[in-house]
Amino acid sequence: MCSSRPRGLDTDAILPSGDELDRLLDVACQVALVCGRLIVEDRPARVEFTTKSTEVDVVTVMDRRSEELAHAALRRLRPDDGIVGEEGLDHRGTGPISWLVDPIDGTVNYLYDHGHYAVSVAAVVGDPRVDGGFWPVAGAVLNPAVGDLYRARRGGGAELVRGDVTRLLRATPATGLGLSLVGTGFGYDPGTRGRQGEAVARLLPQVRDIRRLGAGSLDLCSVAAGRLDAYYESGLHPWDHAAAWVVVEEAGLTIRGEAGGPPTRTMTMAGRPEILDAIAAIIV
Ligand code: IPD
Repeated sequence: MCSSRPRGLDTDAILPSGDELDRLLDVACQVALVCGRLIVEDRPARVEFTTKSTEVDVVTVMDRRSEELAHAALRRLRPDDGIVGEEGLDHRGTGPISWLVDPIDGTVNYLYDHGHYAVSVAAVVGDPRVDGGFWPVAGAVLNPAVGDLYRARRGGGAELVRGDVTRLLRATPATGLGLSLVGTGFGYDPGTRGRQGEAVARLLPQVRDIRRLGAGSLDLCSVAAGRLDAYYESGLHPWDHAAAWVVVEEAGLTIRGEAGGPPTRTMTMAGRPEILDAIAAIIV
């Protein structure tokens, strides 16, 4: 039994069949690829944006276009399913599956034309609107600027596809905290950032180094790929972590909340359990 399964959700009973999981993964990849192509090929010379929760929390015209495209594709391919997206998409389905879509994760990187951003698409069971109340069963995270596609479905392993090359992702050998390269992220609220800055200042002297790369979904997949030893962030949304959650677990690593259980808005941590315990003891 995996500890990241939400309490109160009988995930064994509602886990789709292997064939259905394959179909869900295929749809997740198709949608990520079509949206990824859009945001790269239709990127305007000057990316227009508006702001959301604070003046540094931006949404670009391409976030909205990518979400509209994902919506249309999912309605066509999976008409019975629900869909929740970062930019306000909220469609209630009639079947057991819902989709969590981040049409551009790493929007600030996209705005500044740093090539570390993603489209994240996850199929989940449970209620994607309830923090800790859903469980992802298949997911795709695409960095369209680089061409890296991370993909996984329950029981099928995790893969990184780049062009014609597919690499099976497996947990890398153990590293102690002192030799760990640790990724993290920061929210958009100044008060939250102040607390996150204090926490990372306590951690920095005790690890190999810190990375703030700027796209939570990709950063979590980087742990699965051995590009980071661990990742933690408080405040990540379900669409940031849902698809990567499957990738991390299928790579043989742990993703969890602060004290175990599923990742939530309070905390998302990924890596080896002993490293996560050590990080949690320092940052909380
Ligand atoms: C953000 C990115 C960032 C993380 C923030 C997220 P967005 O998502 O994933 O790395 O630190 O917490 O909100 O706003 O670019 O979709």
